[in-house]
Amino acid sequence: MMKFDAAHGLLKEEIGTYQEQVSRIHRMIHEKTGPGGDFLGWVDWAETVDREEVSRMKALAEQWKGKFDVLVVCGIGGSYLGARAAIEMIRGLYPEDGPEVIFAGNTFSSTYMAQVLKHLEGKSVLLNVISKSGTTTETALAFRMLRQFMEDTYGAEEAGKRIFATTDKARGTLKALADEVGYATFVIPDDIGGRYSVITSVGLLPMALMGIDPDEVLRGYTDASRDLNTDDLAANDAYRYAVSRRILEKQGYDAEMFVSYEPQLGMLAEWWKQLLGESEGKDGKGILPDSAVFSTDLHSLGQFVQEGRKMLFETILTVDKVPQDVIVPEDAENRDGMNYLAGKPMSWVNRMAFEGTLEAHEKTGGVPNLLISVPDLSAYSFGYLSHWFFIATAMTCYMLDINPFNQPGVEVYKKNMFRLLGKPEK
Ligand code: PA5
Repeated sequence: MMKFDAAHGLLKEEIGTYQEQVSRIHRMIHEKTGPGGDFLGWVDWAETVDREEVSRMKALAEQWKGKFDVLVVCGIGGSYLGARAAIEMIRGLYPEDGPEVIFAGNTFSSTYMAQVLKHLEGKSVLLNVISKSGTTTETALAFRMLRQFMEDTYGAEEAGKRIFATTDKARGTLKALADEVGYATFVIPDDIGGRYSVITSVGLLPMALMGIDPDEVLRGYTDASRDLNTDDLAANDAYRYAVSRRILEKQGYDAEMFVSYEPQLGMLAEWWKQLLGESEGKDGKGILPDSAVFSTDLHSLGQFVQEGRKMLFETILTVDKVPQDVIVPEDAENRDGMNYLAGKPMSWVNRMAFEGTLEAHEKTGGVPNLLISVPDLSAYSFGYLSHWFFIATAMTCYMLDINPFNQPGVEVYKKNMFRLLGKPEK
């Protein structure tokens, strides 16, 4: 399925020398005995997932199929990035058919909000608000405006049928509001934190509404849970990646650039950045997660990677079989001089760009490259890679004695902002 290759990683230590530490942490993860162990619900999610709830999502998607123009997903952080990453990876950036999806509740930008509201006018709209706590300010503020838009447009009763709330099973303002007004509600499990929640209703409901089969995502997730349930470093690529990061950090690399050669993986990189950054960046530790899409960014950041300060390594995600291809056409006059590529698939050109860049960065630039490949950009592969990165993140953080499942630092800006906004104390 997914493959990891450290051959271009310029590692100065053998990955296998970490076997003992990895075995100990593997047990800690599966026995849920490490720091943050209460948030390891994603480890056995393949067995514990509420299939009845998945059926409800599929039924709702079926009920609305072909009957709406735009799905608005309102959420931030873990309640936003995973769904967007999956939908863009699987459907592409300009899908031929099906409804449009837009995202709100992830910014305080007034311009963005005004443009979203304007964009929705005259369209048939569904709204999925997602918030585990139910109190996140960006999301709550946008939801208030979107709710008002829906009620003004459709009337309270019809709006109630078009709004779906994904939140805690019992607690929080959003749950109370949803129950009072009668929105369909979907549950975010207590033991799965935001950035690990894309395989719950947080990600699966928006995916289902956009025509992606949640069962396929879960099938990939289940297979990865089985394949990666081994502490043997020779057999567990996710753990090999986790260890490689720690080795490179010891070699002095402070940043990791997640690179793909497909623009529709740009949001997957954002999701990965949250997963690694929010899980690992604490106690004054961690590797800064950064990202780029090549070859686009070879014409901007490429210069820094090639010749700038040697503080970063690259993690390249390649796709074995891209969803679509185009053939370079022949031009009789060859005025642009591109005939040397006539008849070639553009995916081959992209592959050559990858191979040439790998050599340039590793051999000429001395930049370590870790390679990860996925077979395709299907729902199954998304499910598979989410477990792959979750288990790798847990391992790499525990190797650094970090709790991968909290985010205490996020509260600091909120405290200051609430003071400035005059938020009443409870
Ligand atoms: O990973 C996390 O826990 C965060 O990014 C949260 O998902 C984000 O802050 C949104 O929180 P909530 O779902 O409670 O609105």
